[in-house]
Amino acid sequence: MCGIVGYAGGRSALDVVVAGLKRLEYRGYDSAGVAVLSDGGLAAAKRAGKLRNLEKELTERPLPSGSTAIGHTRWATHGAPTDLNAHPHLDHAGRVAVVHNGIIENFAELRAELSLRGQAPVSETDSEVVAHLLAEAFSSCGELAEAMRQVSRRLTGAFTLVAVHADEPGVVVGARRNSPLVVGVGEGESFLASDVAAFIAHTRSAIELGQDQVVELRRDRITVTGFDGAPADVRPYHVDWDASAAEKGGYDYFMLKEIAEQPRAVADTLLGRIGTDGALTLDEVRIPVEELREASKVVVVACGTAFHAGLIAKYAIEHWARIPCEVETASEFRYRDPILDQRTLVVAISQSGETMDTLMALRHAREQGARVLAICNTNGSTIPRESDAVLYTHAGPEIAVASTKAFLTQLVACYLLALYLGQVRGTQWADEIRAVVRELSRISGAVERVLATMEPVRALARSLAGKNTVLFLGRHVGHPVALEGALKLKELAYMHAEGFAAGELKHGPIALIEEDLPVVVVVPSPCGRSVLHDKIVSNIQEIRARGARTIVIAEEGDEVVVPYADHLIRIPATPTLLQPLVATVPLQVFACELATARGNEVDQPRNLAKSVTVE
Ligand code: G6P
Repeated sequence: MCGIVGYAGGRSALDVVVAGLKRLEYRGYDSAGVAVLSDGGLAAAKRAGKLRNLEKELTERPLPSGSTAIGHTRWATHGAPTDLNAHPHLDHAGRVAVVHNGIIENFAELRAELSLRGQAPVSETDSEVVAHLLAEAFSSCGELAEAMRQVSRRLTGAFTLVAVHADEPGVVVGARRNSPLVVGVGEGESFLASDVAAFIAHTRSAIELGQDQVVELRRDRITVTGFDGAPADVRPYHVDWDASAAEKGGYDYFMLKEIAEQPRAVADTLLGRIGTDGALTLDEVRIPVEELREASKVVVVACGTAFHAGLIAKYAIEHWARIPCEVETASEFRYRDPILDQRTLVVAISQSGETMDTLMALRHAREQGARVLAICNTNGSTIPRESDAVLYTHAGPEIAVASTKAFLTQLVACYLLALYLGQVRGTQWADEIRAVVRELSRISGAVERVLATMEPVRALARSLAGKNTVLFLGRHVGHPVALEGALKLKELAYMHAEGFAAGELKHGPIALIEEDLPVVVVVPSPCGRSVLHDKIVSNIQEIRARGARTIVIAEEGDEVVVPYADHLIRIPATPTLLQPLVATVPLQVFACELATARGNEVDQPRNLAKSVTVE
């Protein structure tokens, strides 16, 4: 969490940094700040609240101009989101400024040590200790990069640090351990940021920093070393999306744009994956096929929306590849001492590739000898880098905090993986795989049709803005869809929303049903698995008999549900296993519209951040 930007170059550094912070607000938005080097001095400004508060401050009380600056947008971990706790943090002499993303676990000990030396921090953050330690180290070594290496070696936990020092004009120094940091290489200018989105308007040439590395950035030179000072290999790459992909493109919110981009995102994720022989192409595989063939189980680890994709993956993997599959929230995984060995395939699903809970789960799995395959949307991020194989989702940058297009592409990737496992294990024939792939390739058009018919869903959402609770029911793969629908509503509309397995309702939750309570029911296709369909129709009748207002999502041509639906949302017919790809879309639109009707900020819901790099 937290977004970081650094700049050294020929333009107004503050303008570049503030523009970069706007692109990173998805990483946290409870305070923001900047520091700029100018005429041998250092000036800083910071404000609690959204970035616009800082911009107002900079308009009313402009800082001196300069060509070297750093900036930060915060998601608070230690200390409330106040002006004082906002970053940058300065040393007592006001010569060094530092911004931080992550958690410094030994900060209490370092704070006590600084206090003994008369350098007690003034804020409640874990980050401020770094400013004082850097100032002390700089006064003895006289070089910011070396000071950063010395200080980084003393820190434990997760951190990206970016700092400037008034005595070293034109230099920005960054350090990275367990948190993201990328370098942008421009013409006569250099950038540092948590994510390429911050500098994509200026350059598409980037360098990933590795674990435990320090970078010294000048406008015309970039030097990377390990924390120990040894020169490091740098891995430059070309960013294959441009600034317009990170803009709203005429939509009021990024979320609306990202919902609308789903047909393309789904199609892109399928592109070039299946050869004529039906073989799946993974992006980077360091897992021999024999090992996949011999795998005794699959364990999926993920968080939030990605976890729901994992729940759906289980149905596909077990059905097509006939291999047992467990799905677990990444934050719980390593603490229960899971049974893992060389024959376990762990699948880590993450849009950002930086979620700390998922990263820690995969590290634990690898320590136990398991093979790890990542499904990820962010090229070169930590999770795919630390995995044995990766299947990238090609959703493009997802900015809105609530995940939409990334979720659909995660599903596509999960289906492809399940088919691939089926293929290598001989549980699926090439023509069976081709038949599913044919169905998958129709999904993009189906999602487009759903999107074209969403006006009644929006009207319904607006009419429910005054409600306090909405329940969601589903069976089979419809159950994770119900969980995702409820999560979206919680995240965006701040309403009490819960998803249940429809059959479980009678074992307790049915007591929640009261007159006019909205209940969304995801109905499986009546074709193929008619038992499932029959059962859920009974469930709808049970809740309707108790007064619920039923909002039924059912496929075109399903007439059986009509008498029991107070509101009917039609989706195109799809095979049962693939239905989440279309059934989730109305739920995204529903949550987005309901949140707007309640006056909430759709792209930046309260208390959340998109990329959660703390455990
Ligand atoms: C955060 C976001 C969720 C997201 C989850 C997992 O909690 O608010 O929307 O689903 O992280 O993120 P990942 O990047 O690992 O998919």
